[in-house]
Amino acid sequence: MSTLSPDRLPRHLAIIVDGNGRWANQHGLTRTAGHRAALPSMFVIVNTAIDLGLRNLSLYLFSSENWKREPAEIATIMEIMTNAINGYMPFFETRGVRIRWSGREIEGFPELTATLRGWQERTAEHTGLTLNLCVNYGGRQEIVNAVRRLSDDIVAGELSPEDIDEDAIISRLYQPDLPPVDLLIRTSGEKRISNLLLWQSAYAELHFPDRLWPDFTQTDLIEAVETYADRDRRFGGAVDQHPGEDTDRPGAAENRPVPQASAPIAPPVPTGKRVAILGAGIAGLSAALELAERGYAVTVYERHELGGKARSIPAPGSGLPGEHGFRFFPGFYQNLTDTMRRIPFPGNVNGTWDNLVDTSAYLGARADGTPDAMIPFLPDSPLPPAVYSFTPDTATAIISYLASTISHVPEDEALFGARKFLAYWASCDERRLGQWDKISWNDFLNADKMSVQFQRSFADGMIRNLAAIKSDEASTHSVGLVSEATIWSALGRGNEPGGTVDRVLNGSTDEKLLSPWIEHLRGLGVEFKVGWSAEALRVSEGRVTALTLRDDQGGDHITSYDHVVSAIPVERFTRLLSRDVLDAAPELARTRRLRTDWMNGLMFYLKEELPLVHGHVNYVDSPWAITSISQAQFWTRPFSEYHDHTVKDCLSGIISDWFKPGTFNGKAAKDCTPEEIAKEAWEQIKVHLNTEDRTVLRDDMLHSWFLDPAIVAPGSPDVANDSPLFIQSPGSWDDRPESRTSIANLFLAGDWVRTNINVTTMEGANEGARQAVNALLDADGSAAPRCTLGELHVAPDFAALKEADRERYRQGLPHALDPEQLAPFAREVRAG
Ligand code: IPE
Ligand code: IPE
Ligand code: MG
Repeated sequence: MSTLSPDRLPRHLAIIVDGNGRWANQHGLTRTAGHRAALPSMFVIVNTAIDLGLRNLSLYLFSSENWKREPAEIATIMEIMTNAINGYMPFFETRGVRIRWSGREIEGFPELTATLRGWQERTAEHTGLTLNLCVNYGGRQEIVNAVRRLSDDIVAGELSPEDIDEDAIISRLYQPDLPPVDLLIRTSGEKRISNLLLWQSAYAELHFPDRLWPDFTQTDLIEAVETYADRDRRFGGAVDQHPGEDTDRPGAAENRPVPQASAPIAPPVPTGKRVAILGAGIAGLSAALELAERGYAVTVYERHELGGKARSIPAPGSGLPGEHGFRFFPGFYQNLTDTMRRIPFPGNVNGTWDNLVDTSAYLGARADGTPDAMIPFLPDSPLPPAVYSFTPDTATAIISYLASTISHVPEDEALFGARKFLAYWASCDERRLGQWDKISWNDFLNADKMSVQFQRSFADGMIRNLAAIKSDEASTHSVGLVSEATIWSALGRGNEPGGTVDRVLNGSTDEKLLSPWIEHLRGLGVEFKVGWSAEALRVSEGRVTALTLRDDQGGDHITSYDHVVSAIPVERFTRLLSRDVLDAAPELARTRRLRTDWMNGLMFYLKEELPLVHGHVNYVDSPWAITSISQAQFWTRPFSEYHDHTVKDCLSGIISDWFKPGTFNGKAAKDCTPEEIAKEAWEQIKVHLNTEDRTVLRDDMLHSWFLDPAIVAPGSPDVANDSPLFIQSPGSWDDRPESRTSIANLFLAGDWVRTNINVTTMEGANEGARQAVNALLDADGSAAPRCTLGELHVAPDFAALKEADRERYRQGLPHALDPEQLAPFAREVRAG
């Protein structure tokens, strides 16, 4: 397992690439062949630097002193360099690389000079890795240049000698904006700096691996960077003092832009109309806010507890905060986050939205010996989205590269997977709903026939984190859509202002979101009836005329409302589908076909802080599909305050597969006692984190654990899940209802109604609530402004392809870019 945290990465890595000649000698080849053999190293190292999240990389390719070599060798080196830069840059560019050239005019090689200048200009606005190529470069010459420019300025009267300080020199170096070199690597075992970046390397950590440059691999670079991260850099200061630490960590939230909240409607003008909202989960609370702000008298009925699946649950005994499962807030959320900005929070300008903090990395931990995948999130888009567009070739190149290097998918399969992605991206909406919604993501990818690494990367392993869904149960449309949104988000597209790919709350969901929300609603006059459940809807002449509500003592009440908004989960809603209801709204019968699955939380409270990564961890090889987040690093309130100082962190986990046998006890989580669940999950996590040489998670760190109480009667034959999760099984879109029903005053909110985001998320619940409220306003003929509905990014890059696909789909033809050319409705063919 890798413990590389983005805040410990070198801000500037410089590499002296050495050993091509010796490599050639070892292999009985010419020096020229040695230089050629070094090309893959350049490709892999630049990409690895991007994958690691490094911001600045200098490569020393040709020194001022290298002119002493044979003219023929020099000419070959120059030619290889020109071709390599022109060959690799189109791909590097898709990854946001910005080229810089440091050095003096390369006399006699105008093509190389033009290449360097051209790419420098073309990529000047890119915000990904800055790749500083040192060609015809010498550190002394650079300082001489700077001193000459200083004296020119003095002679010109623009500078006086007493103004000469370090900054005056730095501002006259080739790349004044590059930070000092933190780590300098020279390959091939030579231990000298050979005139590279003399000024910038004054405090660099030095690393001299024996490996020759043509043999230098991704693993060598990661090892060097890891060693660096472990070193204690003191800059002349005392032990334990780390200047500059944390100041430019990716994901630091300071100064991020804030989106405008959709206009608050205050003060509400009473409409005199009464609305019953069934359910106080995210959907019910969202609908309540929109309606209360528009002057409706709202009563919310909640069978169990306010907040529904999103609520925090105190662990019995310790009172430590637990959950149904950790929650995260992708940057592409637009609706829930708008609501969050409208819920006041003490000390926050933007309400509860200001309680969101950015994560800065994702860790795909592996237990099968495959290296872990660590994906850092860049604070800004690596490519200026307004000017950069993807072609099918660049999109497949980038996805297949990432899959084959970070996730170790065989290259041919990585390319196949990338093409499948592209086929989905370039599919018209009609095909997405009419064809792709009807087959599972696994079938779409042919995942069962692929390698384990392919399955882990493209199918089950990856999507667990997105919405904790399983690739054999989820429709291609749902997985495709949310992965598409996530990838664009990571590239800086489709995010709300200030939104980064993954955000979490800086404390428990109750403290940071739900309690302030409920309090705000109460202030707006919303009434909550907790312990009350809806038992029946009476329908006559196309309207709900009365509701039967059972109170917390078991007594029934029959009450009338102007409108009813159902915000309860689908498995509860279907119990209300009486003959009368179905006669009035026959379309609701199909909701009985919608399916749910188990996904529940398991919290491990730890006696020490264990920030495995600054973000989510996916235990990719765990049969129970476990994911986790270490919460203390994000929370403002220390865990010790909840209990007795012995608890310092919570490894908050989710088990997404309750039906596959565990690695150690061979049992499905569903058939285990709570103790067996905790023990097995702990062991599954341990094998992902610990290796022969490193123990990250130790048994003695564990204080206690807490299993989501929604698992009722665990370990007995009567085990049940009181809060299952709606899943978008293949074909489910057709069975999902709209928020507006054929019953004039019944509206549906919740993550299972048709929404733009489509998958089971708090965002879907909020979006469903907004749609329900808009439908209610329409039915009322209300003049109140409608709820805003934020939408997912639609890539203009593929608009023409999607348009062309619309015609093909109409003609019953397969997608032109689909490597498998699946005909529409292939599901029926396969099933038959
Ligand atoms: C480094 O390899 C590449 C350049 C200097 C261009 P060398 O050519 O210096 O290889 P060795 O030092 O002879 O092995
Ligand atoms: C080192 O070149 C600088 C580059 C890699 C461009 P050499 O390998 O020729 O360096 P020395 O002369 O042996 O130090
Ligand atoms: Mg050399």
